[in-house]
Amino acid sequence: MIQIHSLSHAIGDRDILSGISWPIHDGQRAGLVGVNGAGKTTLLRILAGEIRPDRGEIVKPAGCRIGYLPQEAVSFTGRTILETVMDGLHEIGNLEHQIHALQHQIGQDPHNPVLLKRLGELEHRFDQAGGYRAENEAKAVLGGLGFRPADFSRPLSEFSGGWRMRVYLARILIQNPDLLLLDEPGNHLDLPSLEWLEQYLSRFRGSMILVSHDRFFLDRLVDRIAELEMGRLTVYPGKYHDYERIKAENRERIEKKYEAQQDEITAKEALIARFRAKATKARMVQSEIKRLEKIERIELPGQEKSLHFKISVDVPSYKDVLRIRDMSFRYETDWIFREVSLEIFRGQKAALVGLNGAGKTTLTRLITGELVPQSGVVRLGERVRIGYYAQHQIDALDPARTVLEAVTENASTTQRQPIRDVLGLFGFTGDAVDKRTGVLSGGEKARVSLAKILLSPVNFLIMDEPTNHLDIRSRDALESALSAYDGTLLVIAHDRYFLDKLISRVIEIRDGRIAVFEGHYSEYAARRTAAGPVRKPEGKPPVPPSGRKSRERKRREAEARQRISKDRNRLNETIRRIESEIASLEKERAELGSRLADPAAYKNPEELRAYQGRYRETGEELEKLLSEWESVQSEYESILAEIS
Ligand SMILES: Nc1ncnc2c1ncn2[C@@H]1O[C@H](COP(=O)(O)OP(=O)(O)OP(=O)(O)O)[C@@H](O)[C@H]1O
Ligand SMILES: [Mg+2]
Repeated sequence: MIQIHSLSHAIGDRDILSGISWPIHDGQRAGLVGVNGAGKTTLLRILAGEIRPDRGEIVKPAGCRIGYLPQEAVSFTGRTILETVMDGLHEIGNLEHQIHALQHQIGQDPHNPVLLKRLGELEHRFDQAGGYRAENEAKAVLGGLGFRPADFSRPLSEFSGGWRMRVYLARILIQNPDLLLLDEPGNHLDLPSLEWLEQYLSRFRGSMILVSHDRFFLDRLVDRIAELEMGRLTVYPGKYHDYERIKAENRERIEKKYEAQQDEITAKEALIARFRAKATKARMVQSEIKRLEKIERIELPGQEKSLHFKISVDVPSYKDVLRIRDMSFRYETDWIFREVSLEIFRGQKAALVGLNGAGKTTLTRLITGELVPQSGVVRLGERVRIGYYAQHQIDALDPARTVLEAVTENASTTQRQPIRDVLGLFGFTGDAVDKRTGVLSGGEKARVSLAKILLSPVNFLIMDEPTNHLDIRSRDALESALSAYDGTLLVIAHDRYFLDKLISRVIEIRDGRIAVFEGHYSEYAARRTAAGPVRKPEGKPPVPPSGRKSRERKRREAEARQRISKDRNRLNETIRRIESEIASLEKERAELGSRLADPAAYKNPEELRAYQGRYRETGEELEKLLSEWESVQSEYESILAEIS
């Protein structure tokens, strides 16, 4: 067990944490929630030993290992991705280094018995320490997080910040720590990887503290919610929806007490006023006054200030916003796009979707002109002004500048008041506008970047995962601002709930092509699942052709062919059957997913639990079926190879 004792920490004159105590039992899985800037990251950094708290202590058993995934970009050096992940396992990493060095030596001196013996010993120790398994596990984890086998040996430096965070996550996961601290892991993942992580974490046996603004993710993984509010931590047993319910009940109870107290106060005041002038009642009045003073006034919990902002277009573009014609693009050898075409008109709101690495961000960079295609045309319409919002835009905030300076930079106005007004809408009031952006929390930085765009004269918004880091209030505010927006919008997001309400067009990138679907996101998703599984197994290499044949052998081969052809038919049927089961499960899962995404579902806990249970089940069944399908399919392919 890890014990947090009376932890206090102030930054400047603000108490971020005031006297927090929290026992973290073995195997406990807590969701840590709170508005942007509440101090969640600060608490995790203290637990991870990155910050020394002003007061209080953390007691943990000797040898307790803590794995911490920070909210924002980490810089760490490494060679290839796989090596970086494996480096996390220090003993194994050390042995591996030694083995490599020795192999190199043996290369120079191949028959040296001393070296060979030493290699044998090292390999044995490597095996004992789980080295061979570890490599497989590292590969499985990397695969789950969206890396392709070809990526494993690529140097870390070739990957963007978001992908490096995934490497870092993989590194922490395979260390199998006693306490796992994850600060908004979903920010770096797309939907399939997020689902994979969910599965992985549901099997994780250690304790876990998970910061997330995604209540569906929390609901599936945690057994309690710890809320940070005004420096205090309150722990609610149960899932996120239990926490919401208990909070609402508490609030109601306090409100009732408050009302009752107000009635009592009014009555006493009336009594005092009535008898004040009467000498005979003087004693009674005095004692009532005393009683009134003694009443401990109940305070209503402050209503969370709701955020509201509007994104307006000062100068609209003409009707044609973007025209892409027969465009082809590649970074190195592989084509990311092959002769694709796309048109976007004023006022359209579209989602850009595609698997990991399909080229979503590349397309946005081609549109902004940051990248130039090898052939074809990318043309923006007249008067189109692009506002680009992305994760790396947040990272690009100059940490030395203040909030006010950061947003003033490209603002269409230089007047301070309108700028301050907009900042106020994003929760920066008073001195907060003079904070340096380097010290802001993740959500605060995201808001600064949003405010920047809002103040600049744009009419075509391109947003890459805009809901990352934002707390629930800010997400809602962004969603309504974008719904009311009358410019053009192209958005990459994996928050289905967010997408569905906002967009009416889906632009899909798949295998180097672009397909446009006119309709809402859920319609698109339903249609895609109906089309069957997308995953393809890697085929087995064909069997090499045999040499000259004898008669006996020919006969045996003919028999074998017959048997094979029977097998082939049987396997073929099995594959069909599995595929149709997969399709119907995926359909069911998509339906459940959209049920769960509906806030109305949270009103009926029993039904909700049933949905969640079934959702989990379908996930497990799907996983089983997919691996069954893969093995049958590869059996089938090896039979085909034998025949040919
Ligand atoms: N060096 C600093 N100087 C001034 N304020 C700071 C400093 N470091 C952190 N803060 C403030 O402390 C508060 C808590 O930050 P923290 O990162 O812990 O919040 P959080 O709950 O993780 O928020 P988010 O949901 O946005 O990630 C924020 O308001 C932040 O601006
Ligand atoms: Mg944070």
